[in-house]
Amino acid sequence: MATGITSFGELGQLGGFELTYPNKASREEVLRGQRAGTLIEYRPNPCEGNLFYGDNLPILRTLLFDREMRGKVDLVYIDPPFATGSRFESRKQSHAYSDNLRGAEFLEFLRARLILIHELLSGFGSLYLHLDSRMICEAKIILDEVFGADNFRAVITRRKSNPKNYTSKSYGNIADYILFYSKTSSYIWNRQATELTEDHLKEYRYVDEKGRRHMRVPLHAPGIRNGETGGEWKGMMPPPGKHWQYKPSTLDQLDADGHIHWSSSGNPRKKVYLDEHEGVSVQDIWMDFKDAHNQNIKITGYPTEKNPQLLERIVKASSNEGSLVMDCFAGSGTTLDVAGKLGRRWIGVDESYEAIATICQRFTKGTAKMGSFRDLAQPEVQESLLFEDEPRVFGLSIVDNLLEALKQQAHQADGHQPGAGRELSRLLGLLSYG
Ligand SMILES: C[S@@+](CC[C@H](N)C(=O)[O-])C[C@H]1O[C@@H](n2cnc3c(N)ncnc32)[C@H](O)[C@@H]1O
Repeated sequence: MATGITSFGELGQLGGFELTYPNKASREEVLRGQRAGTLIEYRPNPCEGNLFYGDNLPILRTLLFDREMRGKVDLVYIDPPFATGSRFESRKQSHAYSDNLRGAEFLEFLRARLILIHELLSGFGSLYLHLDSRMICEAKIILDEVFGADNFRAVITRRKSNPKNYTSKSYGNIADYILFYSKTSSYIWNRQATELTEDHLKEYRYVDEKGRRHMRVPLHAPGIRNGETGGEWKGMMPPPGKHWQYKPSTLDQLDADGHIHWSSSGNPRKKVYLDEHEGVSVQDIWMDFKDAHNQNIKITGYPTEKNPQLLERIVKASSNEGSLVMDCFAGSGTTLDVAGKLGRRWIGVDESYEAIATICQRFTKGTAKMGSFRDLAQPEVQESLLFEDEPRVFGLSIVDNLLEALKQQAHQADGHQPGAGRELSRLLGLLSYG
């Protein structure tokens, strides 16, 4: 199907253009479509979470009718299919999900979910959409339409793997991307910083009489000013084309407190102390959160699962303790697990049975070292090697049986015995369609 960008002068949100393609539904059609039937909650102790099993489109619509959910979600991270045309299997070789949609069909699939997510977000909320180079440009235009171009905050480039020895006639692909949008301009933002590097530390090469390590920086900045900062201080004018960074009264105070160093030629410079440094603000290229098979981290074995530290940064930056965090392409539950550990409430959705089973396992048994998964064929090895340092509640086969039984019960309950599914709510969330 062909896609294209058409000029539309009236589309102020986007700056005069819109992505057009066949079968693009109106926002109203997306919002009014089919809702899910019975929603049954799963609250894995001790987390404050709701996990739903099924296609996220009708589930998200249903959540819009819940006063506790609509406009209450502070953060959504999604890592949907990337339009790869591939099938994905877990390390146990069980089918996890298929990623078949391409082109306009993929975009419309994504756009419908983004419209519903936008409605669920609170006025302080943010969305992070993880994709690779295949559809990132088209998704940016769609997000500008749904969220408004003014609410675009960043596109983060993540290094996903180690360099590969590419033989194709192009550059090695080691990056994927995360688009960050906020719902409004008043979004939650907790500055994230990293420690100073060796190169930064080398700049702090002076130690003052109190033993404080510091660097010395100019007291002036470029630009001519007509007010106090453009005038004389201690008989000196700022250099041509520059102004003092502080008013003379502040400069006097800094000097009195010993925070100004005077060179032998009488040149004043401000001392910037290492012990007052608040770290380096995180930039938009993230090198440290490669996929599990490129890093020795513990995993669930679900395909395409993301690095928990990546989610930790996002959850810390764009939500607060007690915030409601949602991942409606939950996969192995990385977002949900990290959100729970950081004291956030969460909503998870996935339509893959393997994903739901993995999430249950993650919350009850934890994750395992990469290498351990080789031994899964041997049950006794599995028991001894996997999940050794996390609390164990019950075994994998019990989780599987429980899920299967609950799945059947939920489907039976749907439509026939209203409220019957409540009985299951302590254990597991399953969706059946009305
Ligand atoms: C790339 S994986 C997510 C991996 C996850 N970020 C993690 O760390 O494990 C994408 C997930 O989206 C799920 N998915 C795809 N289409 C869906 C839909 N319409 N509704 C709900 N889940 C869907 C798949 O089953 C799969 O688990």
